[in-house]
Amino acid sequence: MNLGSSAGTPREMGRAGNNALCNTLLFCSILAYLTIGAQAQDENTIYERLFKDYDKNVRPAVNISSPVPVTFNLILRKILEFDPEDQSISFAAWLQMTWEDKRLVWFPRNFGGLSELEVRGEDVWIPDVELYNTIGPTEALTDFRVLLQSNGTVIYVPASTFVASCPTNLTDEVHRCTLVFGSWVHSALKLDLQHKAYAPTLREYTPSHVWELKGVSVEELIKMFDCCPQPYKEVRYTLELSRKNGSTSSAWMPRLDWKFLTLLLVLCFKI
Ligand SMILES: *[C@@H]1O[C@H](CO)[C@@H](O)[C@H](O)[C@H]1NC(C)=O
Ligand SMILES: *[C@@H]1O[C@H](CO)[C@@H](O)[C@H](O)[C@H]1NC(C)=O
Ligand SMILES: *[C@@H]1O[C@H](CO)[C@@H](O)[C@H](O)[C@H]1NC(C)=O
Ligand SMILES: *[C@@H]1O[C@H](CO)[C@@H](O)[C@H](O)[C@H]1NC(C)=O
Repeated sequence: MNLGSSAGTPREMGRAGNNALCNTLLFCSILAYLTIGAQAQDENTIYERLFKDYDKNVRPAVNISSPVPVTFNLILRKILEFDPEDQSISFAAWLQMTWEDKRLVWFPRNFGGLSELEVRGEDVWIPDVELYNTIGPTEALTDFRVLLQSNGTVIYVPASTFVASCPTNLTDEVHRCTLVFGSWVHSALKLDLQHKAYAPTLREYTPSHVWELKGVSVEELIKMFDCCPQPYKEVRYTLELSRKNGSTSSAWMPRLDWKFLTLLLVLCFKI
């Protein structure tokens, strides 16, 4: 529950106006108890209202012939392993995505001022954005949840580890690995993936002991595949990597503490 940012709730008004009365601990704890209870009640009501007739298999498009705009950003956390001989790279990252779902709109003033709601990812429509050049398992690191805002904006930040192919020459000083993200089934006519840098790709990056990340570039592309007549949109990140001096092996890797991630994701995203 996101108790910290519920501006305008009775709890907050109570805090502003009744500081003098809060000499007794008892009064404050009763107040907190009552207002947290009221908020839970409001969340329940919104949830029931929003999801009564909601079908998560239906795209939140304006109409059947228009695409759903989805903004996308990659936050690279760590390069877990890069093996030029094997031509593969594994990494941990957050994918930041937002879109609009007009079926999930409510008026905060009708629900105790509540303007945001956290729900499970499996309860709402979610774009099927995947790593195209994957050659290994994509492993979820968190129990995915999405943040709904009262105006219909949906914020989704899954954290995962990925394995991508990276064709490169062993003799090169600088290796270039391209990570290609796009919708697995939806063409650009159904899902319009757009790169949007909410935060720099390397804001949360932990440097590797072995590989120096010299640069990251990003581009949006429209591609045609042999299978299908429609265009597909993809967002490509190109990492430039060179071996650090004195390092010959990539065997040792510190492990991240993923337990904090769910919380961190939502907090960081809102900054
Ligand atoms: C669908 O929406 C688009 C953009 O809002 C509009 O240009 C188009 O005419 C609409 N098509 C139908 C069939 O309503
Ligand atoms: C929806 O509300 C959020 C939070 O107030 C805001 O950041 C966002 O720009 C709004 N989106 C639209 C489309 O109005
Ligand atoms: C590797 O280098 C050779 C010779 O310079 C070149 O022909 C080949 O295209 C390169 N391969 C890749 C994957 O860059
Ligand atoms: C690695 O060593 C070479 C020569 O010893 C030096 O020119 C280069 O700047 C060093 N690179 C890094 C990243 O320290």
